[in-house]
Amino acid sequence: MSSSSSSIIFTPKTLILLINTLLLLLVQTCHGAANDNPPLFHFCSNTGNYTPYTPYESNLKILINSLIYKTPSTGFGQFQNQQAYGLALCRGDASVGDCKTCVTDAAKELRSLCPYNKGAVIWYDNCEVKYSDTDFFGQVDNTNKFYLLNVQNVSDAATFNYVVKELLSLLASKASEDPRLYASGDLKVGECERVYGLAQCTRDLSSVDCNKCLHDAIHQLPSCCDGKQGGRVVGGSCNIRYEIYPFLSKP
Ligand SMILES: *[C@@H]1O[C@H](CO)[C@@H](O)[C@H](O)[C@H]1NC(C)=O
Repeated sequence: MSSSSSSIIFTPKTLILLINTLLLLLVQTCHGAANDNPPLFHFCSNTGNYTPYTPYESNLKILINSLIYKTPSTGFGQFQNQQAYGLALCRGDASVGDCKTCVTDAAKELRSLCPYNKGAVIWYDNCEVKYSDTDFFGQVDNTNKFYLLNVQNVSDAATFNYVVKELLSLLASKASEDPRLYASGDLKVGECERVYGLAQCTRDLSSVDCNKCLHDAIHQLPSCCDGKQGGRVVGGSCNIRYEIYPFLSKP
């Protein structure tokens, strides 16, 4: 029985099927590799465009290089070059190498997604990069914001939502008092499950504004992520995230 069934593999039809499957796998693998790290989201600002070969373009290029080279060591960079302002923030647990890769990719991607826009912002799992022709440092960004959610429902939404809010409120307070404006942690939900979270602000914000930014984000959870197994509220100045699995490389 086993020898007759294994001989089926060698019929031409099965071989063709097999080859097609292998080709498909190959194509998917290559496609995956080429598109390794897609951005989560981006906005091109509508504050106007710049003309190629003008000072703004060269100032922006120098600014972006500063962000790429100076952000990874601390996980945050903030620079001004004439009329160009920019910042980059890596997720609190990102290694120096991951931070550098992320900011490099982000800057490159942003310039191809928003060519000639004076301002733009992009987010990945591991970082955010933002630039503008106006000084936005120290101000909470209420314009650029998006949500992400895991569409799977939890079984007991009321309890789960309560614990998520408790966790993220705790992390918001911790993050706003942390010199890196970052906090992560987890809490027990029910008998044997946990919820994992993070809260982080860009380091141009004051402690008070960071706390405010994070609490505003928490207040949006019911409208974005009610009873969902995972959710993120991501903005230009701060972001929160929770999942039912540990998602950080360093908890
Ligand atoms: C989650 O629950 C909502 C509302 O109860 C329902 O409409 C939706 O289809 C559910 N989603 C999944 C993925 O089960």
